[in-house]
Amino acid sequence: MKKRILAIMTFAALLSLASCGKVVEGQPSANTITTTKSAVTASTTAVTTTEAQIATTTAANDESKEAAEAQTTEAAQNTYSEAATEAAQQQAVPAGGGDQTSNQSAPQQSNAVSSDTAPTPNDYNYGPAPAQYNYDGLTYIQGVLIANKSYSLPSDFNPGLDATCQNQFYKLQNAAAQQGLNIWLSSGFRSYDYQAQIYNNYVARDGQAAADTYSARAGYSEHQTGLAIDVNQIDDSFAGTPEAIWLENHCHEYGFILRYPQGKQGITGYQYESWHIRYVGTDMSYPIHASGLTLEEYFGIDSYYH
Ligand code: DAL
Ligand code: ZN
Repeated sequence: MKKRILAIMTFAALLSLASCGKVVEGQPSANTITTTKSAVTASTTAVTTTEAQIATTTAANDESKEAAEAQTTEAAQNTYSEAATEAAQQQAVPAGGGDQTSNQSAPQQSNAVSSDTAPTPNDYNYGPAPAQYNYDGLTYIQGVLIANKSYSLPSDFNPGLDATCQNQFYKLQNAAAQQGLNIWLSSGFRSYDYQAQIYNNYVARDGQAAADTYSARAGYSEHQTGLAIDVNQIDDSFAGTPEAIWLENHCHEYGFILRYPQGKQGITGYQYESWHIRYVGTDMSYPIHASGLTLEEYFGIDSYYH
């Protein structure tokens, strides 16, 4: 009897063991489901992560784009502000050019417009930026302060000799000295009142018509700009000397131009002055020198008392 009961119990145990962990086909086991859920969760996380990455990438791209745009804008602004700064610096040297330590200031226009090419409002490319600027009673063209018979200076414009002009003159003087040439500053800045004295003396001596051919009336002299220098003997005996020849050929290297060349009296308004140089800065002196033109011709302006 006991054996029979034992046999029945053993069979039941075996049956129980056989059903344990039985997998119904087509149905995942509880473990498998759990694992798959984890995988889905992981997968969802991965998708979420990927989306997040895409979002981040997109954001990054947007940011890059914005940054790039910002940079472009910034670059443009920098370009603009550099141009503005450059213009402001050039304004600081009314004569223009690369030697930027002048004590004077003026607005700057970069586009040269000669009387021949100046656009009119009817031109398709008309731009409202004139090369010529008036500032505090002063006229600038391409940053160059103009003083001639057509363009006067206020009587109270009293800047003294421009520091840059003076320094550049000393460089010129040293360079000439290296060639064994002696160039010295005879007359630099002249105030309105001093010019009036000089001019009136010449008028008293030679008459106004004659004086007007070689001496400026008060308010019309380049010497009042502080950017003009007369060298050496200030008369015709200077013409043709080695110093005068060197000056004519090399003064532009220091930012000067020979202001009243021979044969140009009808344009400049003055007789040939081999001794009178005008500081315009090297940015202007090189092209003006290369052009072979007077300042009036280069800018397309006239010089006569109106
Ligand atoms: N000799 C020049 C023209 C002046 O008087 O300014
Ligand atoms: Zn002079």
